[in-house]
Amino acid sequence: MRTKQGSFISPSDITPESVWLGRRRWLRQAALGSLALGAAGLARAADDDSPAGPVLDAPLDARWSTTEKPNGWRDITTYNNFYEFGTGKGDPAAHAGRMALTPWAVKIDGAVQHPMTLDLDDLRRLAPLEERVYRLRCVEAWSMVIPWIGYSLSHLLKRVGPTSGARYVVFTTALQPDVMPGVSQGILDWPYTEGLRMDEAMHPLTLLTFGVYGRALPAQNGAPLRVIVPWKYGFKSAKSLVHIRLQSEPPVTSWMRAAPREYGFYANVNPAVPHPRWSQATEQRIGSGFFAPRLQTQPFNGYANEVAAMYAGMDLKQNF
Ligand code: MTE
Repeated sequence: MRTKQGSFISPSDITPESVWLGRRRWLRQAALGSLALGAAGLARAADDDSPAGPVLDAPLDARWSTTEKPNGWRDITTYNNFYEFGTGKGDPAAHAGRMALTPWAVKIDGAVQHPMTLDLDDLRRLAPLEERVYRLRCVEAWSMVIPWIGYSLSHLLKRVGPTSGARYVVFTTALQPDVMPGVSQGILDWPYTEGLRMDEAMHPLTLLTFGVYGRALPAQNGAPLRVIVPWKYGFKSAKSLVHIRLQSEPPVTSWMRAAPREYGFYANVNPAVPHPRWSQATEQRIGSGFFAPRLQTQPFNGYANEVAAMYAGMDLKQNF
């Protein structure tokens, strides 16, 4: 992905597992050698593959879940993109723990009958939580399988009563510059914003997400709540939401503003449309081992049966 200074992550920057393992060893040593707050957490993240943090249990929703083997807790919580905390895959795990998570409120407004601001408890109680095991395909050509916990975003959108003017949904994410070292690096125009068409936002697969692996979301995965849109490249799945706005005009998202020729509004996973600087035909499944064969990337990340009808008649090469 490109930064405002013109540097970018190329496929060769996608961390090979051997390097990544080395970084984890480094993290463990750094943690052991430090008395700083959070060192224990780092050591734990480096050593232990069992889920940690407050329990957030929910029954599996098999209807919307893949039966592929999920990645381990360690993969999911130590190999992250959260550019507010830096561009290294380990930066979010190292720094996101400093984010202030309480109190937390999300404002929902714009083209709605009932604008409201809800705190985290209100939001969690709004609909029954479910576990959904989804594939996540990053635009950088790596992927994981992740057991998220949440409910369809449509429950929240119905609660606020969209008006006829609601054609798009805009997500704005937290901006806490004092604890976000990436924000001063000018990588994007902050805060990070993303958007969906209204029908995409109302699709049952679009998950308002509060947890992973039976635990509350760790900070580096977008605590306390994020959206997950599994048929689109991972950058559409905005973390740490603070504002959801419904509007009639198509939004210009952070990545569209930074590099419009590279990152379109739709960002549907599509092996037939290469990124201008690399192929999207295959992907590296994180945790499968550096020498494991790459997987063929599936149109809509394997969710074509569920979502392709929303794009009938559209040229997906133009509308990338
Ligand atoms: N949300 C915010 N606020 N900032 C980010 O940098 N990165 C995106 C997305 N959401 C990002 C974000 C990208 S590129 C990906 S691939 C996913 O988060 C990664 O989610 P994960 O770290 O939980 O796997």
